[in-house]
Amino acid sequence: MSEATPVLQARQIVKRFPGTLANDHVDFELRRGEIHALLGENGAGKSTLTNIFAGLYRADEGEIFVNGTRTEIGSPRAAIQLGIGMIYQHFMLVPSQTVTENIILGLDEPRFLLNLPQAEKRVAELSKQFSLQVDPRAYIWQLSVGEQQRVEIWKMLYRGAQILILDEPTAVLTPIEARELFATLHSMSAQGRSIIFISHHLDEILEIADRVTVMQKGKVTAAGLAAKGMSKNDLARLMVGREIVFALDKARMDPGEARLKMENVRALNDRGLPALQNFSLEVRANEILGIAGVAGNGQRELSQVITGLRPVVSGRIHLGAYDLTDRSPGHIFDIGVGHVPEDRLGTGLASGLSVMNNLILRRYKQEPIARGIAINWGAANRISRTLIERFDIATPGVHTRVGALSGGNTQKVILAREISTRPDLLVAVHPTRGLDVGATEAVHKLLLEQREQGAAILLISEDLDELLAISDRIAVIFDGRIVGEMPAENADMEKIGLMMAGTKVDS
Ligand SMILES: Nc1ncnc2c1ncn2[C@@H]1O[C@H](COP(=O)(O)OP(=O)(O)OP(=O)(O)O)[C@@H](O)[C@H]1O
Ligand SMILES: [Mg+2]
Repeated sequence: MSEATPVLQARQIVKRFPGTLANDHVDFELRRGEIHALLGENGAGKSTLTNIFAGLYRADEGEIFVNGTRTEIGSPRAAIQLGIGMIYQHFMLVPSQTVTENIILGLDEPRFLLNLPQAEKRVAELSKQFSLQVDPRAYIWQLSVGEQQRVEIWKMLYRGAQILILDEPTAVLTPIEARELFATLHSMSAQGRSIIFISHHLDEILEIADRVTVMQKGKVTAAGLAAKGMSKNDLARLMVGREIVFALDKARMDPGEARLKMENVRALNDRGLPALQNFSLEVRANEILGIAGVAGNGQRELSQVITGLRPVVSGRIHLGAYDLTDRSPGHIFDIGVGHVPEDRLGTGLASGLSVMNNLILRRYKQEPIARGIAINWGAANRISRTLIERFDIATPGVHTRVGALSGGNTQKVILAREISTRPDLLVAVHPTRGLDVGATEAVHKLLLEQREQGAAILLISEDLDELLAISDRIAVIFDGRIVGEMPAENADMEKIGLMMAGTKVDS
């Protein structure tokens, strides 16, 4: 094989799902030692293509070459044997076992299983080589999300992966962890390994990619362009064919009266352990308060106690003068609290029901949809059409099953439903997670609009760029407490990152 032979090449790959042409004659080429970003809107076909490389899906048509040789990748095991390793977003690690045990788990050679000390030594060597610091003897449950991701990467390196595929790896990381991941990716590429990197964060792509391939609706629209010299706008234009407004104009607003007031709230998590500890905060009208934090520090419980989905142990929660502590979710909604939950298709929507049913879910007891005890379907239909138009929801029709929509459009259905009732307080949890730049822009504009119209918004997010872009104030949550708070303008990313990791910072 010459240096110029691509380590991985796809020719004219076609993959169909019922009703969708997910990959439409895709050509793709990965060179030795490069970091190649794969970019595209939600549903463009990126994960489908990489799942074919990882042996999870079989292509309907087309050819794949590894190091110049035409190959069938029939299973994930076959992919690993060819040196292709996929790092999943939902880690496949066993919490009750150690790092080393997880790394050697599932290996064919039984001698590794017998020789744990030797495996530990080899794992430690790998960690030094790629500056991936984790104690080989630590248990998975003791590790942070970022550390668990490192273990996944080790696992692939240990199996001899020459090609690593990372599908939105930074979605779950703190800024510091993301930077460590980038350092690792650089050292791997410097040693001749090749990396396919998928992300909706254009800054990240510009920071680490050598080349970029763009997909649109299953097709490749730009193949292997050099990333050097490109701007975020160039990438956005390649992706969506129009300009994206990165700097949102956030009108100056003086916050109004206090809307949400939480005083010394304590609550437990699902395992009965303290999740919120003497938690106090205030959100005012015309204000977005952003809650920054690493997942699992009480964010979920915070949104649940406010919206009535979880009881409080002690403390009070008020909406204006109204005490909503421990009221039912329906009641809390009726007095003016909207909720964009993190699990869109769980708490957020009934995925088996139509777009219309989901849009009117909150209103079927009210005029004009309620007609006595019956539902006025004409009105329901009319209202749904208006919302679909106003919120620009791409759906074949009002009767389409909501579970069939793309991620961005699913999120718009929830926002349309929750915002159109003009809530006094909106609790938005990871409202743009996994959404492409266009959909993210739309959601941000909607939230800012609500703020200007007088809503108080509690925004819970792990995305610091998002928090900085649309919040007025940012509070950092760690271990069930607010550990710091600052105005969003001039907020110090570095400092927030440290606070998120539990490091004490003087403010
Ligand atoms: N297992 C599946 N069954 C049916 N349809 C699927 C399946 N996987 C993907 N699709 C569809 O194929 C298309 C491409 O999806 P894919 O997940 O590859 O997009 P993506 O570019 O990774 O998007 P995102 O940025 O949202 O992750 C979408 O229309 C999706 O709904
Ligand atoms: Mg994807």
